[in-house]
Amino acid sequence: MSKEDLTYSEAIEKAGASITRFPLIPIRGVPLMSYIANSWDSIWAFRPDPSDLLIATYPKAGTTWTQEIVDLLLHNGDAEVCKRAPTPVRIPFLEICSPPPIPSGLDLLKTRDPPRVIKTHLPFQLVPPGFWENKCKVIYVARNAKDNMVSYYHFDRMNLTQPEPGPWDGYIEKFMRGQLSWGSWYDHVKGYWVEREKRNILYLFYEDMKENPRREVERIMKYMDLSVSDEVINKIVELTSFKNMKENPMANYSCVPAPVFDHSISPFMRKGEVGDWTNHFTPEQSKMFDEDYEEQMKDVNIPFRTLI
Ligand code: PPS
Repeated sequence: MSKEDLTYSEAIEKAGASITRFPLIPIRGVPLMSYIANSWDSIWAFRPDPSDLLIATYPKAGTTWTQEIVDLLLHNGDAEVCKRAPTPVRIPFLEICSPPPIPSGLDLLKTRDPPRVIKTHLPFQLVPPGFWENKCKVIYVARNAKDNMVSYYHFDRMNLTQPEPGPWDGYIEKFMRGQLSWGSWYDHVKGYWVEREKRNILYLFYEDMKENPRREVERIMKYMDLSVSDEVINKIVELTSFKNMKENPMANYSCVPAPVFDHSISPFMRKGEVGDWTNHFTPEQSKMFDEDYEEQMKDVNIPFRTLI
């Protein structure tokens, strides 16, 4: 897979000494990991095939879950085929760039023939224009701000390539000001929302997926112009439950060991719930956050739910 035919985990171990909490560099005002920012021209120039499918999310909104559902739908629910490689190898992460010999998203994409499934966390305005010119299908998954932030906070603790999250109180401020990797959650969810009809984007909510996974798997299937049997849909729902994905080494990111992900600090498959924010926000923090949220979201009406 990489030039030296290392597995993903081996490449990470080999890159060990170069791994650090990389600083963020703004690209058109959006803070991105320095490795990504330094490769920005080639990322922006990426030309997808019209048959490629993009899964776009703000970090920690349900990307991996959706990737697994899509891969299973494409393979008629065949669990073994979907264990052919870990998630980031099966579904390349468009903009990711890390120290060598870890293959970048673009490196992996070069080795694949279309149709490909591609992951991105880029906000709408930074998605390479080829995706829109070629009318690629795009699935966007959004998660309510408070749970999304809690998940990102724990992820920033365990992902040793992301900036230090610092204390929780200060993290809330950074989230509200869009100072985390990939920028503002508010701009991200709004950017895709206002373009969803014009660009034929399937806009999903994490909370809907938790509430009724079968219904959402069917929506994804129809959007992808696929048709699988009821039995296969049931199987996909079961295989993509939080519990099953947490135990699946090809879906739980155990392929990314320390020094990148330190799962002993917080596992990648952490809780997978709606409403965990209630265990993190004090009533005062929640009030302050809600007031700011009203202001930042007043120009749209996106039906987020913070509890189901
Ligand atoms: S990443 O790093 O941006 O790709 O992370 P992402 O996959 O978007 O988000 C990780 C959070 O999604 C939860 N998760 C799930 N929830 C429910 N069901 C399933 N199958 C599932 N798979 C992953 C994961 O646990 C993270 O959320 P938290 O709240 O931290 O547990």
